Amino acid sequence: MRLIQSAQELRDYQAEIGTHPGGVLVPTMGALHTGHEALIHQAAHEASARDLAAGCVVTVFVNPTQFDEAHDFERYPRVLEDDAAKCRAAGARAVIAPTVDMVYPQGLDAPGPPVPDVAHDKGLEDEYRPGHFVGVTKVLDRLFDLTKPAAAVFGEKDWQQLQLARALAKQTHSGIEIIGGPTVRDTDGLALSSRNRFLSKAERTAARSIPRALLAASSAATAGEAEAAMRDTLSGLDIEYATIRDARTLHRIDPASTPADGQWRAVITCRLGQTRLLDNAPWPLPADSPLRGL
Ligand code: PAF
Repeated sequence: MRLIQSAQELRDYQAEIGTHPGGVLVPTMGALHTGHEALIHQAAHEASARDLAAGCVVTVFVNPTQFDEAHDFERYPRVLEDDAAKCRAAGARAVIAPTVDMVYPQGLDAPGPPVPDVAHDKGLEDEYRPGHFVGVTKVLDRLFDLTKPAAAVFGEKDWQQLQLARALAKQTHSGIEIIGGPTVRDTDGLALSSRNRFLSKAERTAARSIPRALLAASSAATAGEAEAAMRDTLSGLDIEYATIRDARTLHRIDPASTPADGQWRAVITCRLGQTRLLDNAPWPLPADSPLRGL
């Protein structure tokens, strides 16, 4: 596995890929955990199924344009050596850890492509992290340009981001297929996240209500009742949103809507102290969902 950190190393890599289809990209900000490792395994498998010589390529880049709080950007863990070892073990062929100048040669304020509509749905990320998806759109556009992948794998845990990546690929990078990777959970159901490490013991215990709220929503008869069930289960937590949305557009749905396989998604974001946790699941849960065992 190669580790690419300088502009020259990146140029060499790009020259080798040349006009062939690139590999399967897993974009990350590092501080990799078992959830990322599963995405890398999945990408390596996809690359070999498609006979892509470039294999799985992981980017590790803490993107300054997507952080709305300076404190969150500064404290984001940077552990490249450890990340590279995990990428190698999970089957990546290359890790690209670019500098800010390599990603943004025109500066951080240079405009990116239009932000897909799915970013702007009311009451979700855009409302609580204004500008976040402007930065995510910018960085994905640059990472797609730098690595020219045939496909890219994104975790389903950031459901709205996954839909944004799909819309961006359709809008601006039409050759790239976007693939979702299932959320990996701890034994008590909490979705793995690089930010879980910031939770105190009490916050970690309280965070268990989040997957339980997704389970509680699943047996409700209507979307309105599912939202009420999630709020009840999350009582005591600082809820930003706990809502049932159209799975693809993230639009609000009629509270009288009834469960429909594959059509609706329960999405939750809560703050625990300084840490924001996101989770989501299909509504209703599929029969084999690990959340059913909670
Ligand atoms: O989900 C993340 O880690 C980031 O938002 C991403 C997709 C790597 C873009 O910086």
